[in-house]
Amino acid sequence: MILPLVQTGDPVLRNLARALTPAEVLSPVIQELIAAMFETMRAAPGVGLAAPQIGVPLQIAVIEDRMEAPDRERFPVAPHVIINPQLTLNGERDVAFYEGCLSLPGFAASVARARSVTVECLNERAEPVTIQAQGWYARILQHEIDHLNGMLYIDRMESRTFTTRESFEARTIQFRQAIR
Ligand code: CO
Repeated sequence: MILPLVQTGDPVLRNLARALTPAEVLSPVIQELIAAMFETMRAAPGVGLAAPQIGVPLQIAVIEDRMEAPDRERFPVAPHVIINPQLTLNGERDVAFYEGCLSLPGFAASVARARSVTVECLNERAEPVTIQAQGWYARILQHEIDHLNGMLYIDRMESRTFTTRESFEARTIQFRQAIR
């Protein structure tokens, strides 16, 4: 089921999402929600979707990057779910790049984020998982986990880089699929 996407301005995007118990993760209602989130993300299309973006204030996000032309900092990421994530930024350095969001369609801005992160979370079977990520995947994780904490990329962007997608496309050979 493809669900409607909540747009910026809705308080659900600005509140802290609630953590789930392992029993809740395994419940049919949450399993169906996860399936609907994958379907909604793929239809958008996007490379990540957090539950608050479909109006559900729970600590769940789905991620999948089918990037077909990998480069040094971006490579395909298999579909997976992060639940109750704990994010650690691995200090080495920040990287600034343009990103967008399905809850602010048609815009993008440059956001500095850690190049390398560690995420501890539960998967869809309520099993503890540790994810080590670099590059674009690390950016997706930081963006989605921000959603679970009521944050949007516009809170972190370099404000003078804020652009419409149209304007950005006019200035770049290829708009990298930076929409989440
Ligand atoms: Co987003």
